Amino acid sequence: MSHFLSVPDAYDRWAASYDGYDNPMVFMATHAVPASLAAVAHGAGVFEFGCGTGRNLAALTALGAHEAEGCDFSGGMLHHAGSHRTFRHDMTQPLTHPVTPADVVLFCLTLEHAEQLDVPLASAARILAPGGRVAIFEIHPFLSQRGAAAHFVEPDGTEIRMPAYPHSFSTFLNAFARAGLHVESCRKWRPCDVADAPVPAKVLKRGAQMPLLVEFILKKHE
Ligand SMILES: C[S@@+](CC[C@H](N)C(=O)[O-])C[C@H]1O[C@@H](n2cnc3c(N)ncnc32)[C@H](O)[C@@H]1O
Repeated sequence: MSHFLSVPDAYDRWAASYDGYDNPMVFMATHAVPASLAAVAHGAGVFEFGCGTGRNLAALTALGAHEAEGCDFSGGMLHHAGSHRTFRHDMTQPLTHPVTPADVVLFCLTLEHAEQLDVPLASAARILAPGGRVAIFEIHPFLSQRGAAAHFVEPDGTEIRMPAYPHSFSTFLNAFARAGLHVESCRKWRPCDVADAPVPAKVLKRGAQMPLLVEFILKKHE
């Protein structure tokens, strides 16, 4: 059986099992985010849009971030974010909640759910501290444009799907430019790039060389 739910309803339902679920993209992001941001996390203020259960906030705090805050529109996901400073917000709407300027503004597996990138990216650019970076980790366009998207299967076998909008490289790049952000670096993340843990068979199903995630590190035009 398969259900198609709204994005917040789907994540409310996924929340309790999300952190322990064997999702290949989440596995890749678990290794990519700290590996790429270790050098900038120490002493940094971090803000994450779509922070979910707060697992990236926890990882960046463990790397020495002095402040980590996030927002999400799924109350169920935020319920699992423990002691992290979080608030409820739909990132496709203008950000009105006061936020401390951040050295690292993160989107991780979240922009696939935003049909338009302009509002979230404009909010990210606005709360960026001088010299700060916006870091984006998303399903690689090679895969998202062929239908790979967030979904999960409940213990009784019910598959839950939700709206997702595959963004091409040109869609990303044009949206970055409109937000006044330029690409400092861009890289692909493949299973063979995970150096610090054994890679589960499910993550290797498309081969060790297949890019699963794309990472963009952006800076504001000074
Ligand atoms: C795949 S989860 C990723 C969570 C977290 N970033 C991580 O890496 O574990 C996607 C998250 O984005 C959130 N999300 C999706 N669309 C959103 C929106 N418009 N505003 C705020 N949060 C959103 C969902 O509720 C969910 O928690």
